[in-house]
Amino acid sequence: MKGAIDINRLPKHVAIIMDGNGRWASKRALPRIFGHKAGMETLREVVKACSDMGIKILTVYAFSTENWNRPTEEVSYLMNLLIEYMRKEINELNKNHVKIKILGDLSALPQITKEEVEKAVSFTENNTGLQFNIALNYGGRAEIIHACKRIAEEHKEGKISKDEINEDLISDYLFTAGDIEPDLIIRTSGEKRLSNFLLWQSAYSELVFVDEMWPDFNKKQLEKAILEYQNRDRRFGLVK
Ligand code: FPP
Repeated sequence: MKGAIDINRLPKHVAIIMDGNGRWASKRALPRIFGHKAGMETLREVVKACSDMGIKILTVYAFSTENWNRPTEEVSYLMNLLIEYMRKEINELNKNHVKIKILGDLSALPQITKEEVEKAVSFTENNTGLQFNIALNYGGRAEIIHACKRIAEEHKEGKISKDEINEDLISDYLFTAGDIEPDLIIRTSGEKRLSNFLLWQSAYSELVFVDEMWPDFNKKQLEKAILEYQNRDRRFGLVK
């Protein structure tokens, strides 16, 4: 793709499906967990790049509701990696004014992981730089069900009438309440699907699929994906 990024037309919200850690490791005859560890380093670089570029929101898919079905050792490793990430990165993130927000239900996480994550959220809550959404124990369908249940409850209590239920109201009951919708969703590893990620919020997102495994992704690849986004013609269902 030709040209340079137009800094005045950056996507405000970039979301990433960080896929391919396992395959990256297998290709090197390493256990899968090495891929996750390398993936954590990529995440550090990408968060910094988004923050430096002036992107408003970065959302990453760190652990899905389906990921619990992986082998126990891998799940435990990922839960510990989250703790390591928070402990190692929190000061740097804070220095760069990054605000951490969690999308998903933290109650199912091991207590120590939950506490470390909550600590990072409250530590950065007043920051006004990049909003860094981490989807954790997140599933798009579960999120919509969760929203429906809360709306039904409030309808029963007489707080919401049937006629008030519209797109804006539903958006307000999702984990992403208050966030602009993702302009650009990137998935690494060559797979071309959303896998239950931001199902409601992705209605008009531009999707960019890259072949690199997540540990091989970097700032340059991110810029390439943004350039591809900037070359798309977004019409939101309208005629030009
Ligand atoms: C998908 O690759 C990746 C995950 C399920 C975990 C993502 C986690 C990280 C990038 C680690 C760092 C994140 C934090 C927040 C500490 P896969 O394992 O499904 O790869 P495969 O499709 O090749 O098996």
